[in-house]
Amino acid sequence: MSSVAAGPQLPSQSIMFPILWLLLGFTLPALGFHIPVSCPQAEKCQRALLSDSSDVLLSCSVSKAHWSYSGLSKDGHLVNLSSVSNVEMRPEGELAIRNPSPYNTGLYLCQAKNGTQVAQYEIDFQDANKLHVTHKGLGQSPLPNSTLNLGNMELVYTQWEPWQRCNRCGKPGERKRLGFCYIKEPLKDPIPCGLYLGKLRMWLVRARPEVQVEACHVQCEDSYWFTGDYVVFDNFRLMEESESAWLSCPLASIYRPVQWEANNTPLTWEGQLSSRDLSTFMDLLKGGQQLQIFQPATYRCFVDQELVAQFNPTKKRPETQRWQPGKIRAPLGKADSVLEGLKLMLLMGSALVVIGLLCKVFHPSQSKKRSQILLAK
Ligand SMILES: *[C@@H]1O[C@H](CO)[C@@H](O)[C@H](O)[C@H]1NC(C)=O
Ligand SMILES: *[C@@H]1O[C@H](CO)[C@@H](O)[C@H](O)[C@H]1NC(C)=O
Ligand SMILES: *[C@@H]1O[C@H](CO)[C@@H](O)[C@H](O)[C@H]1NC(C)=O
Repeated sequence: MSSVAAGPQLPSQSIMFPILWLLLGFTLPALGFHIPVSCPQAEKCQRALLSDSSDVLLSCSVSKAHWSYSGLSKDGHLVNLSSVSNVEMRPEGELAIRNPSPYNTGLYLCQAKNGTQVAQYEIDFQDANKLHVTHKGLGQSPLPNSTLNLGNMELVYTQWEPWQRCNRCGKPGERKRLGFCYIKEPLKDPIPCGLYLGKLRMWLVRARPEVQVEACHVQCEDSYWFTGDYVVFDNFRLMEESESAWLSCPLASIYRPVQWEANNTPLTWEGQLSSRDLSTFMDLLKGGQQLQIFQPATYRCFVDQELVAQFNPTKKRPETQRWQPGKIRAPLGKADSVLEGLKLMLLMGSALVVIGLLCKVFHPSQSKKRSQILLAK
C-alpha cells in the first residue's frame, strides 16, 4: 500500500480522482526525471553526462523533427535512430534517451522536415561504473591531471560542475559536485574524453567521471517552505533470504541533492565512504537515489532539501490496510512497487497543477500562492 501525505489545503478526493485518471493517459509516458539538454539553434554543443543515471531529453525546436545519430564505432555514418533501442523520438520534437549507456556516446542531429539542421549535440555519456568518488572530510583527493603524449601536449583533467546545493538546510548536510573527464590541447577548446578518445579509437584508464563530496551547513532560505506533499511507502519488506531491501527515492538523481535519514538520523556519505556506518548502503552510481537497508526503521529521503518520501519497511506483509487520517490513500489495488508510488505522486503533482490552474481561473486572487508552489516542484 502506498499513500500520499498531502498538505492541508487539498481539494476533496471526489474532485481529485477523476482528474487524476484523466491525467493518467498523457502523464505516464512523461514519468521519471529527465535531464533536459538544449543548445543554441543550429550550433553544435558538446556535453558530458553520466551513463546509467537519469534519462536525458535532447530538445529540438521543431515539431516532426527528424533525428539521426552517429556513434563512435560507425565511422561517422549517420544511422536511423529507430534502430537504437533506448532512444525514443517524442512528438514534440525532443529525443529521449533512457538509461543512457556509454554506447550512446556520439553525435545527435536534429533536422526539420525540409532538411534544415536545427540542432546538433555531441554527447559523451561517461561511464558511471568508473565513477571516482572522494570526500573532502576524509582527506581523499580527486584524480590528478595527466597528459596523453600524442604530440599535441594533450592534458587530461576533470572539469568540475558547480557544487550542488547542500542536501539539507537548517541541519548538517553534505553537498556534492560532478566532474567530467576532458582533454585539452593548448589554444583549443576542451573536449569530453569519450568524444576525443573515441575518434582516435583509444582507451584510457584516466578517462573517468568523478564525484566530490563535502560537509555543509546552510540556513534555510526565507523563501524556503515545505509544501507538505510526500509519499509514504508502507509496502516494503525485508526479503527473508537476504534480510535486505532497496528503497528508491522518487525524483532523486545524481544531478540533484539527495539525503536519507534513518529514524531522523542523517545517513552521510562520510559515514559510508569511511566504512564507519555499515547499517545502510547508498547506491553510489545513482548518487544515493537508492538505499539498501538491513533492518526495519523509518527511512526518509529529501531531494533538494525537501522531504519527498517516507518508507516504513517491515519484516512481513502487513495484514490489514490501515486508514491513515490526513492522508490520501492511493487507489492502487494490489500494486506493490516503488514505481506505483512514484507514478502516483507525479500524477498527484500534475493533478494539483491542473487544479491550481483551474482555481486560478475561477479565483485568481486566492490561488496565486498555491499555484506558485506547485509549479515550483
Ligand atoms: C527510419 O526507420 C523507420 C522505421 O523503420 C522508418 O519509418 C523511417 O522512414 C526511417 N527514416 C529514415 C530517414 O530512413
Ligand atoms: C526549414 O524549416 C525550418 C523550421 O521549420 C525553417 O526555420 C526554415 O526556414 C526552413 N528552411 C527552408 C529553406 O525552407
Ligand atoms: C588540471 O588542469 C586544469 C585545466 O587546465 C586546471 O584548471 C587545474 O588547476 C589542474 N589541476 C592541477 C592539480 O594541476
